[in-house]
Amino acid sequence: MRASARAHSIDELRALAKRRLPRAVFDFFDGGAEEELTLAGNRAAFSQHHLVPRVLRDVSRVSVDTTLLGKRSALPLAIAPTGAVGFGWRGGDIAIARSAARYDIPYGLSTSATASIEAIAEHAAPSRRWFQAYVLRNRAFTDALIERAQAANYEALVITVDLPVGGKRERDFRNHFAIPFRYTARNVLDFASRPRWALAMLLHGVPEMSNLRGLDSVANNANATASSVGRNYDPSFNWNDLERIRARWNGKLIVKGIAHTDDARRAVSLGADALVVSNHGGRQLDAGMPALAALPAIAAAVGDSVEVMIDGGVRRGSDIVTALALGAKAVLIGRATLYGVCADGEAGATRALDILRDELVRTMQLCGIASISEIGPHLLQQ
Ligand SMILES: Cc1cc2nc3c(=O)[nH]c(=O)nc-3n(C[C@H](O)[C@H](O)[C@H](O)COP(=O)(O)O)c2cc1C
Repeated sequence: MRASARAHSIDELRALAKRRLPRAVFDFFDGGAEEELTLAGNRAAFSQHHLVPRVLRDVSRVSVDTTLLGKRSALPLAIAPTGAVGFGWRGGDIAIARSAARYDIPYGLSTSATASIEAIAEHAAPSRRWFQAYVLRNRAFTDALIERAQAANYEALVITVDLPVGGKRERDFRNHFAIPFRYTARNVLDFASRPRWALAMLLHGVPEMSNLRGLDSVANNANATASSVGRNYDPSFNWNDLERIRARWNGKLIVKGIAHTDDARRAVSLGADALVVSNHGGRQLDAGMPALAALPAIAAAVGDSVEVMIDGGVRRGSDIVTALALGAKAVLIGRATLYGVCADGEAGATRALDILRDELVRTMQLCGIASISEIGPHLLQQ
């Protein structure tokens, strides 16, 4: 039996990942900015809402499929873009993309992924692929990334707007965590304490951020710390630039990292097809509001003009129901599948999706609803 098959919750996958990874690597995935108030707040926000179940309804058959960006999705769920996955599991990006393909849900590839735009298109086809672009100081490089995504038939471009500079991730500072690795005495001991992980890195080589190859970037800067990846990103990036990107990109445009209703309206007027209410999983602005708390006003502000998604703190099927009841069309998950892949590769990522799907179905049955379209504010205690 594979290790991940014994995990019954996302939290148990997290514990397995923690056991397998060196402390510095686990903390990079698990951690947030500064005091991690927003990281904790994302999670805590879910417990402030209560579902009011209805009973004696036939819930023998439940359907969890929905539409996202006008196409069928087998779950109201997509994989959030996350960088540096290969440092947790060699080939981890492709492993998660394959799990998403098996589940027939969209997969978001990060600019700072450890698999290239083309490799994902090749290995995860025919799943739905979204490419997340950061706007770099080197604009020509960003344009080239966007063109590559277009050439590789990515359905949507995700522009992440909550990272004008990198967040202050203090766990990384304390752990001397950097990409590429810095081999300080502390790190060598830490890496050696997880021989299975260290062996995989030795045998296959330390991964690289393939999409950034050719850029004079942190990936080539031995003094860079992971939490300062923002140094390549352009803090002058603004609404005019977003408009320019909208004009260049033929596919769907998703703007990720919105918290304010005015910004939501502006992104819509500029031609966004979808928004992600997000604070980057608590890794950027600390003391920022929980994503779930920002959701209802944004959903109300933009109405049906675009699809509103949310991420941050989704660890349970009931979280998905709560988010949808508060106006989201779908949720994105970051750490849930990251913990799974770090625990057990593709089997672990798939296990994370199995758990969330199973919990979603069970929650719907316990609430007396048989389809996603039946989820609404009436399910919540007012
Ligand atoms: C390790 C890690 C790396 C991330 N890298 C990126 C990234 O490259 N681009 C991006 O837009 N968001 C990135 N995010 C944020 C996620 O897309 C998402 O917003 C967040 O993980 C959602 O919160 P959750 O992890 O609680 O599900 C990253 C998150 C984590 C945990």
